[in-house]
Amino acid sequence: MKQNLITKIGLCGLLLNGLYSQAQKTNIVVNTSTTITKIQPTMYGVFFEDINFAADGGLYAEMIKNRSFEFEAPLMGWTQPNSDRHSYNKESGIATTIKALENKSNPSFCRVLINDANGYSLINEGFRGMGIKKEAKYNLSFKAANHNRAIKKITFQFIDKDNKVLGESSIIPDSNDWQSYNTSFIATQTEAKAKLKITFEGTGTIDLDMISLFPEDTWKNRKNGMRKDIVQLLYDMKPGFLRFPGGCIVEGRTLAQRYQWKKTIGEVEERETLINRWNTEFTHKPAPDYFQSFGLGFFEYFQLAEDIGASPLPILSCGMACQFNTGELVPMNELNPYVQDALDLIEFANGSTNTPWGKIRAEMGHPEPFNLKMIGVGNEQWGPEYIERYRIFEKAIKSKYPTIKIVSGAGPFPEGDYFEYGMKELKKLNAEIVDEHYYKNPKWFRDNATRYDNYDRKGPKIFAGEYAAQSVAIASPDNKNNWECALSEAAFMTGLERNAEVVNLTSYAPLMAHEEAWQWTPDLLWFNNLEAYGSANYYVQKLFATNKGTDLIAITSNGKNLIGQNNLYASAVKDTNTNEVIIKLVNTTSIAQEVNIEFKGAKLASKGTKTTLTSSNLNDENSFANPKKISPKQEEIKANVNRVSSSLSANSLNIIKIKIE
Ligand code: AHR
Repeated sequence: MKQNLITKIGLCGLLLNGLYSQAQKTNIVVNTSTTITKIQPTMYGVFFEDINFAADGGLYAEMIKNRSFEFEAPLMGWTQPNSDRHSYNKESGIATTIKALENKSNPSFCRVLINDANGYSLINEGFRGMGIKKEAKYNLSFKAANHNRAIKKITFQFIDKDNKVLGESSIIPDSNDWQSYNTSFIATQTEAKAKLKITFEGTGTIDLDMISLFPEDTWKNRKNGMRKDIVQLLYDMKPGFLRFPGGCIVEGRTLAQRYQWKKTIGEVEERETLINRWNTEFTHKPAPDYFQSFGLGFFEYFQLAEDIGASPLPILSCGMACQFNTGELVPMNELNPYVQDALDLIEFANGSTNTPWGKIRAEMGHPEPFNLKMIGVGNEQWGPEYIERYRIFEKAIKSKYPTIKIVSGAGPFPEGDYFEYGMKELKKLNAEIVDEHYYKNPKWFRDNATRYDNYDRKGPKIFAGEYAAQSVAIASPDNKNNWECALSEAAFMTGLERNAEVVNLTSYAPLMAHEEAWQWTPDLLWFNNLEAYGSANYYVQKLFATNKGTDLIAITSNGKNLIGQNNLYASAVKDTNTNEVIIKLVNTTSIAQEVNIEFKGAKLASKGTKTTLTSSNLNDENSFANPKKISPKQEEIKANVNRVSSSLSANSLNIIKIKIE
């Protein structure tokens, strides 16, 4: 009886599905002959911010946390398992930090007194451990002053949680004065949670500083460079721009804690450590050990942009600290150094090697200009205080560098008083590019696929600079990178693309997060100490970015844009470089839908490809265990005299691509 009922329900469901899918057959027309507007090369980019341990502990491959003993608690990250300050002298040894103020940017170093070499060790815990790979090489460097050459040898070892040694090397520190030392060693085993143990032969005092450890295998094999697996994921997206260094980190919680690019260039050891403003921002995920070493600084950001083929887009403080925190303001008559920072940055990026800042770029190894075309003034500031500061920046930048485009901001929300006011004022000022931010629920994204349909085509261009669907609520630690969010973003992105005449840049935010050390979720990429993977949202971004084409063309049903009729969303482009027509179709219902597509205005090849991104459950996510659970699948499709019939899977993003003959 029960079985019968189930069968009946099942049959009924099938029948309904059948009827429904017939009713859902949608006729679509693509007009390949008329270009509505050019798609900007910057259309899909990436937004990098040092949040979630994205720089130190993430992209920047340094493995030692607090390498120069500059954290607020100067021995944070370091332990001395056999030492006890309260029984000083009786113990095997003790490390203390000394602040030598004559060295302004990196004043602290570590003084180690070794009483009993057999018992004393100093251990660094890494960033939630150190990821080491079997047979991979690791390069260690440090500075030491060996008082009276009392210490005969220093041994460095990878150890696991049971103190098993997983690779080691040693150095004879043969100078009484400060001197740099280097060594390398091979890991004998793969381990995600290794630590670095340092032991000493001999007794006496030795000073240590800048203890640094990097994998040899970095992106482009750059010495002390970036994590190859993470950069590869970015590179694979073919991003049109790289925005850096944020986000709120640009602003700082106070002005003193703002990001100052000049302090992030030059010799790495001279770059002044600064607290990361995400350190204890959220009580749900405090990270008191989150600081910025600036090993990944502005030179490296420019170089990264170049490496991944992206246009650099630096964002600078405009003299306003984060308005969600202190909102501290620099007085208008003291704004000049901030403006000068912007002018000097343009010279650093583009100036000839004869200019003071261009010379520094050349000395750092890049005599060619970085080809900077855009600069951002402030992050997501709001109110009249922003507008008056923006005006000063605009005047100064445009008088000296008229071709540099300025990105301004419309505040943190996509509607409301701050937004309305900012937009109104920026329009009056003929702002070139305005940055909008939206962290909203998935439905908002589907409902807002038409957001830009009525934007003034003669007004400012739009940078959809930070967006991500939030499965629970903005900044909730329970937000997931689930398929519902990614699919809703895809529906929304057809609206961004359809409005490419006004929307010139777009980026998901934040970009990446450490599996254990994150503060903000959702994030486009996730990594731990050994691996990295792209979320479902990543594959949506990647599919749009790698299929952005060059010319926007019309795709309609019954003469109207597809903006949710039958739960379908669409945009279409031509790529004049590859001579292809590319359409993006998003089906946001839980049943498959048939579409009949007619291509007008050009003769198409008889076959093409359909790439589908879908998952059977809207709650599905990618993970370290199943990183490609939601990832694109490609198949061949037939085009019959310029017509394609296809079934779009339930809840799917589909990219159909056919050559124009
Ligand atoms: O992306 C996380 C934060 O959200 C950014 O730092 C800020 O600009 C926005 O409020």
